[in-house]
Amino acid sequence: MIKTFIYKNLNEGSIIVAKKISNLIKKKEKLNQKCVLGLSTGSSPLKTYSELIKMHKKEGLSFKNVIVFNLDEFYPMKPNSQFSYHSFMFNKFLKYIDIQKKNINIPKGDISNKKIKSYCKSFEKKIDNLGGIDLQLLGIGTNGHIGFNEPGSDINSITRKIIISNHSRLALSKDFKSIDNVPKNAITMGVKTILKAKKIILIAWGKTKSKIIRKTLKEKTNPLIPASYLQSHKNTLFILDNNSSSYL
Ligand code: GLP
Repeated sequence: MIKTFIYKNLNEGSIIVAKKISNLIKKKEKLNQKCVLGLSTGSSPLKTYSELIKMHKKEGLSFKNVIVFNLDEFYPMKPNSQFSYHSFMFNKFLKYIDIQKKNINIPKGDISNKKIKSYCKSFEKKIDNLGGIDLQLLGIGTNGHIGFNEPGSDINSITRKIIISNHSRLALSKDFKSIDNVPKNAITMGVKTILKAKKIILIAWGKTKSKIIRKTLKEKTNPLIPASYLQSHKNTLFILDNNSSSYL
């Protein structure tokens, strides 16, 4: 059963998400443990990240015990490109906090095709060796994708190279100026990788997400709506606003 919490708007919802993340970090710190976070790109988590930066600067929230794994990266993509998810994560979040460089794991978009398989395996292994992801933050595509697990993705999929759907490339064309500039591929954590997380928080704001949120929660789990696989996860919360929940 997915638990849903509805807030007035993304500002209110994001403050709650940031608090949940910071509480977990502090709890783990007290226990002298690492806190393994799965992070997402896109516009949805931006306010959560800015709240966490505020907590770091004003309340002394430390990320020294935090290890992050990002969901995905375009392929091919140089990490220092302005369009990369590496740049996104640094510019919107990571460069403002005290996380250690060695604790940042974002799938590489600049490895050779030949090495992708073994690279993806090692990415999975790294997560497993740390005991798994404690909390995975997710956005959702209007086609129901999570990470870049596009419609048709298998429940047993692990980190791999995928083809970005035309639907998603069109949605991304706003960042790339034109759809022709949007990469055709990406490396993404798989559905299985995501479902292994101990806790998952999916956030969705605004009217454009309302239809897919309804389908994800109300329809039977099916590969055409990858986010619907979350129904089988034991500890998933959806944090929504009035608009994204308006069809529930
Ligand atoms: C992107 C990312 C996803 C993200 C989604 C929604 O393409 N691969 O991880 O959750 O699309 O983006 P937004 O939050 O901007 O709506």
